[in-house]
Amino acid sequence: MKAGIDLGTTFSLVARMDLGGRPELIPDHADPELVHTPSVVYLSQGAAFVGSMAESMLENDPELHVLRFFKRQMGEQKPVYFDDDGAGWNAEAVAALVLKKLCFDAEAHTSSPVEAAVITVPAHFSDPQRRAVLNAAAIADLPVLGLLEEPVAAALHYGVATRRKDAVFLVYDFGGGTFDATAMSMDQHGVYVLSKTGQTELGGKEVDERVGAMVLDQFGKALGREPTLSARTLLDLRRISEEIKVELCIPGRSHVRRLVLLGGDAVTVEIARDEFEAGIVDLLDRAEAETLRCVRDAGLREKDIGCVLLVGGTSLVPAVEQRLRRIFGHPGQEVLYHEPSKAIALGAAIHASQLAGEAQSLSLPPELRGVSGYNVGVRTVDASSGRVAIDPLIKKNMALPARARKTYYTSRPGQERIVLDVVQYRDGADDAVSLGQLVVGPLVAPRANYPIEVTTEYREDGTVMLQAYDAQSGVELEQVFGRDGAHGGSTLAAQRGLVRGVTVNGVSQ
Ligand SMILES: Nc1ncnc2c1ncn2[C@@H]1O[C@H](COP(=O)(O)OP(=O)(O)OP(=O)(O)O)[C@@H](O)[C@H]1O
Ligand SMILES: [Mg+2]
Repeated sequence: MKAGIDLGTTFSLVARMDLGGRPELIPDHADPELVHTPSVVYLSQGAAFVGSMAESMLENDPELHVLRFFKRQMGEQKPVYFDDDGAGWNAEAVAALVLKKLCFDAEAHTSSPVEAAVITVPAHFSDPQRRAVLNAAAIADLPVLGLLEEPVAAALHYGVATRRKDAVFLVYDFGGGTFDATAMSMDQHGVYVLSKTGQTELGGKEVDERVGAMVLDQFGKALGREPTLSARTLLDLRRISEEIKVELCIPGRSHVRRLVLLGGDAVTVEIARDEFEAGIVDLLDRAEAETLRCVRDAGLREKDIGCVLLVGGTSLVPAVEQRLRRIFGHPGQEVLYHEPSKAIALGAAIHASQLAGEAQSLSLPPELRGVSGYNVGVRTVDASSGRVAIDPLIKKNMALPARARKTYYTSRPGQERIVLDVVQYRDGADDAVSLGQLVVGPLVAPRANYPIEVTTEYREDGTVMLQAYDAQSGVELEQVFGRDGAHGGSTLAAQRGLVRGVTVNGVSQ
């Protein structure tokens, strides 16, 4: 089977195409009612517990050190966990355990192996973040058919479900940990991304923290002191804050009043919808600013958007929809929800069958074209002033694959190597992230002004590839940034070694 996987910050899902050619979600092996796997992992002595199993263990013992929100650390080399042997696990190794759990569910449910998968990523994920997802799959021994951007997955699913293929869409994807706005057009020929923007530190987590602060504030006022913040209290606070938030978001609800037990104290907490909305206004403002920027970047005006598709759990906050209706409320414009917490996994399953050549029965637009999410360039240092500048190669929002070719020259006599620091950036040198160094050399005839042709390719899966070619001697000095990224295969092998042999939810791998 080919699977579609939504690897989410708070929840992960796996889907496949059913025998009738429709996408379906696959439930948790232990609970047929559950299709959302909490992206939570507890690791202990060669055993990993993933999803609701980790959540229940935590309920029994709030001191357990569980790992969550590790999607935000994807692409960072800093470990998120140290095991008893002192070995550091990075986010991709932990994500691999979630992938293993989802594949196990899929295989147990269908009695057939997962041969390969499409995994979704936030549209604004950079090259290192995308490579980390590919690495997570490699660690989990899961072949990847392709990465698919979450908003594109949602649009694909919407397009297939409604047979609608004639619009300029804006997908507003406000999840548990990330926000993406993506403008795209869809017709019978394909789905074309026009522009995308987004942020990693903007999601339901931030909303919950604001509600948590309001709850603590009311405890402080009622008791004259803050409750003791033990591991149990913090766990309860997180759960209660999310429950209050979800209740406040029920259409028509003007306030929530409930008795809250925290750290042995009981206080009646009352939060009005207005107060809640005022408490998160800056988060909604940030999402709105990104959305407007996305429309502008696509070369469009607000009224050019035919349909705003809302996905992600946080888009269920009523103020989100109200704001969008104000902005995109011209005659003929639509603002709608379409399975906001399931659409991404279902779209991934559709794309998996598409890539595997198994989607003939679906009337799918055949082409899927994305755009670059970042500018790519080479960081240069001016020899005399020491000023750091960027030599731009590929611009943001170019149709993919995008290629740029440029010749670089050695600057000193006898220079044997050219070192190019390749960066991805939004605005300029200040927010540039290094993708790694392309070291070209030793050159066959070292001298000043030696030309090296460098080709940069921004690939369809959003990763960046570089090649160098010695045009003068005809020698191919090929240096390709591989799938392991700038950090090399050794880290990947080490992380794979950590995960191998670990049982996942009691099952040997
Ligand atoms: N009815 C609701 N009202 C408000 N928020 C909700 C509602 N239902 C779910 N959420 C919130 O949505 C978030 C989860 O959304 P979702 O499942 O789309 O995120 P994710 O896929 O895990 O994260 P991401 O896509 O950012 O990686 C949680 O913060 C959850 O509390
Ligand atoms: Mg999501």
